[in-house]
Amino acid sequence: MLGSVFSVLLVLTLQTHDSSVEGLEQRAYDYTKYHTMDEIMQWMWTMEKDHPDVVTSVIYGTTYEKRNITLLKIGLNSTKQKKIIWMDCGIHAREWIAPAFCQHFVKEILGSYKTDSKISEMLKNLDFYITPVLNMDGYLYSWKDNTTRLWRKTRSPGSENCTCFGTDLNRNFYANWGMVGISRNCCSEIYNGKSPLSEPEAQAVTDFLSNNRDNILCFLTIHSYGQLILLPYGHPNITAPNQDELMKVGLAAAEAIKAVHSMSYTVGTPPDVLYPNSGSSRDFARLIGIPFSFTFELRDKGDHGFKLPEDQIQPTCEEAYQGALSIITYVHDKSYVRAAATSIAATLWSVVMAVWLSSATD
Ligand SMILES: *[C@@H]1O[C@H](CO)[C@@H](O)[C@H](O)[C@H]1NC(C)=O
Ligand SMILES: *[C@@H]1O[C@H](CO)[C@@H](O)[C@H](O)[C@H]1NC(C)=O
Ligand SMILES: *[C@@H]1O[C@H](CO)[C@@H](O)[C@H](O)[C@H]1NC(C)=O
Ligand SMILES: *[C@@H]1O[C@H](CO)[C@@H](O)[C@H](O)[C@H]1NC(C)=O
Ligand SMILES: *[C@@H]1O[C@H](CO)[C@@H](O)[C@H](O)[C@H]1NC(C)=O
Ligand SMILES: [Zn+2]
Repeated sequence: MLGSVFSVLLVLTLQTHDSSVEGLEQRAYDYTKYHTMDEIMQWMWTMEKDHPDVVTSVIYGTTYEKRNITLLKIGLNSTKQKKIIWMDCGIHAREWIAPAFCQHFVKEILGSYKTDSKISEMLKNLDFYITPVLNMDGYLYSWKDNTTRLWRKTRSPGSENCTCFGTDLNRNFYANWGMVGISRNCCSEIYNGKSPLSEPEAQAVTDFLSNNRDNILCFLTIHSYGQLILLPYGHPNITAPNQDELMKVGLAAAEAIKAVHSMSYTVGTPPDVLYPNSGSSRDFARLIGIPFSFTFELRDKGDHGFKLPEDQIQPTCEEAYQGALSIITYVHDKSYVRAAATSIAATLWSVVMAVWLSSATD
C-alpha cells in the first residue's frame, strides 16, 4: 500500500514539470520508450516501493562523476543460501536498447512470479541482481544532444598527453587485459584505460563478482547491436572449460528468441562470430569461475544500429526475454531440479541397497 501511495506522489511530482496532465494514467511507465537516467532512477525506486517483499535496491559503487551505481536485487525470502543471477545493461552508453531490456526484464518477472510457478520457484532459489545502467555517466552524456548520442565509453579524462575522454569499460576488466582487440590511444572507442580497472565502474562490478563468486551461477551482460549471443573468451587462444555446454545453452537461447518474432541470433565466441577482444566483463566472470557467462548483442544487424527505433523496443525485449529465460531456467534447473533428482535417486538407491543387504543377511 505504501508503495502505491509513493508512486502516485511520484507521478504528481513528475507532472509538475509537464503541463499535459493526464491524471493517473501516467502512472503506467512506458516500456516502449527510451528513458533518461533520471527517469530510470525514479523507476528503480518505484519498483522497490511497489514490491517491497521482493525488490531491494543496492548501491555497489560510484561512477567517475560520483553517481551511485545501483542494482535491483529481486528474489523471494528464503532461509537457505540463495544463488545469484547477474544481469547488467548499459555498459556502453549509446546502446539504449540495453537499459530498456533490463527494465522490461524486471517488469516481466515482477508481473509473473505470483501466477507463474516456474518463475516463483526460481525466485525462491535465486536472487536476480540487475543493473539497468552501469555506465551512468556515459548514458547521461549520450542523452545530452545529437552530437553526443553515439557516445560509448565512460567519461573519465584520458592520460597525461591525450585530451580525449573515456575508456571502453568492456576492455577495462582484468581478463587478458590489453592483449587483443583494444587500443592504447585514448581517443579510440576501444581504449582499454590507463590500467586494468582504472575505471571505478569496472572496479565496482569486479568487487561485487569477486565477493559473491561462489554463489553466482550466471552472468549476463546486455549490449547492442548485431543479434549475437557471445560466449567466453574474446581471446582466440583461450577456451572455456565448459565451452560445449555454453554453446549448447546459447543455441537453445537463440532458438527461444527465434520462436518469438523469427529473428536470428548467432551464437559463438567473439573471435568466431564477431572479432577478438580482451578485458571484457563476460570473460572476467568466466575467468573467476562463474560457470555461465554470456553477452547478448540485441537488435538489429545494422539498419539502424545503435539508434534502434522505439517501435522495436517491445519486440526486441520480448524475444530477448525468452532468450534470457531459457538460459536462466537451464542454469537454475541444473543446480536445483537435477540436483534434487540426483538426491532422490541416491535415497532410492540406498533403500534398495538396504533391502538387498537385509535380505542377503537373512
Ligand atoms: C523478508 O525478509 C526481510 C528481512 O528479514 C523482512 O524484512 C521481510 O518482511 C521479509 N518479507 C517477507 C515477505 O517475508
Ligand atoms: C548516493 O547514495 C548515498 C547513500 O544512499 C546518498 O547519501 C547520496 O546522496 C547518493 N549520491 C548521489 C549522487 O545520488
Ligand atoms: C542536430 O540538431 C540540430 C538542431 O536540432 C539540427 O539542426 C542538426 O541537423 C542535428 N544534427 C544531426 C547530425 O542530426
Ligand atoms: C607526455 O609528453 C611529454 C612531452 O612530450 C613526455 O615527456 C612525457 O613522457 C609524456 N607522458 C606520457 C605518460 O606519455
Ligand atoms: C594465438 O596463437 C597463435 C599461434 O601460437 C599466435 O600466432 C597468435 O599470435 C596468438 N594470438 C594472440 C592474440 O595472442
Ligand atoms: Zn556494447
